[in-house]
Amino acid sequence: MRENLDDAVALVTGASSGIGEETTRALAAVGADIALLARREGRLSNIASDLEADFGVETLVLPTDVRDEDAVESAVESAVDTFGRLDVVVNNAGLARGSDVASLTTDEYRQMMDTNVDGVFYVSRAALPHLRETTGNLIFVGSFAGQYPRPANPVYAASKWWVRGFAHSLEGQVGDAGIGITVVNPTEVRTEFGSEDGDSFEVRFESGEVTEPEEIANAIRFAALQDDSTVSELDLYRRDKFSGW
Ligand SMILES: NC(=O)c1ccc[n+]([C@@H]2O[C@H](COP(=O)([O-])OP(=O)(O)OC[C@H]3O[C@@H](n4cnc5c(N)ncnc54)[C@H](OP(=O)(O)O)[C@@H]3O)[C@@H](O)[C@H]2O)c1
Repeated sequence: MRENLDDAVALVTGASSGIGEETTRALAAVGADIALLARREGRLSNIASDLEADFGVETLVLPTDVRDEDAVESAVESAVDTFGRLDVVVNNAGLARGSDVASLTTDEYRQMMDTNVDGVFYVSRAALPHLRETTGNLIFVGSFAGQYPRPANPVYAASKWWVRGFAHSLEGQVGDAGIGITVVNPTEVRTEFGSEDGDSFEVRFESGEVTEPEEIANAIRFAALQDDSTVSELDLYRRDKFSGW
């Protein structure tokens, strides 16, 4: 396991808030230069300035919608053109919409599938050739909802089951090329998650009630520091998750 990520480059999707934002900080804190990808450019620029000031790393802001495959290809190429390499890629961008399948709109369905599934595929496909060159780490943010049934949102759950199925199958395909593949599965985390359809999780849950995004970012960093083993899967659950099951 590496002691730091000096001379390494990390690309984080969904870097404009929550788990992604904290992941950029966790990786920059151990020396990685950071490419920040999401749609909200202003947010990314502010976070990038803070990373440069706080950790002395280089950054690149990539305002990109992961649902646009050409834009994703260009963003990954631009990161490699700028930094010359790619050692860590974190597939984190994702969201949940709606709940009841019977009343879920096609737009809500498409937004989840296009972001959580197609976006993850586009980013992975674009990144793999570069990770092969560095024998780097490709890390996916899955979910407890991708491990157990989620009656509250079956489509979101299915998108996260896809992420885990894809990640572990890919582990079999590229492991012998030296690429590490990790899935990190959180339970509830206090972020902007859920804000599309109501209160965000950071509003819904008090501090101390569930997981903070820094904790997930630290787990992602542990996976990113591996240079030999693969941390295949990491489950970070709130301690009372199984109470009353
Ligand atoms: N919070 C939880 O309880 C929880 C639990 C388990 C798993 N997760 C997973 O954790 C990941 C991060 O979520 P979070 O909790 O940190 O929520 P968040 O604060 O809402 O962050 C979501 C991030 O995804 C980005 N994003 C959404 N759609 C995008 C698109 N089309 N293209 C590019 N970026 C997009 C958003 O940026 P822009 O809006 O700027 O594009 C934002 O940076 C998601 O995959 C989520 O499913 C969350």
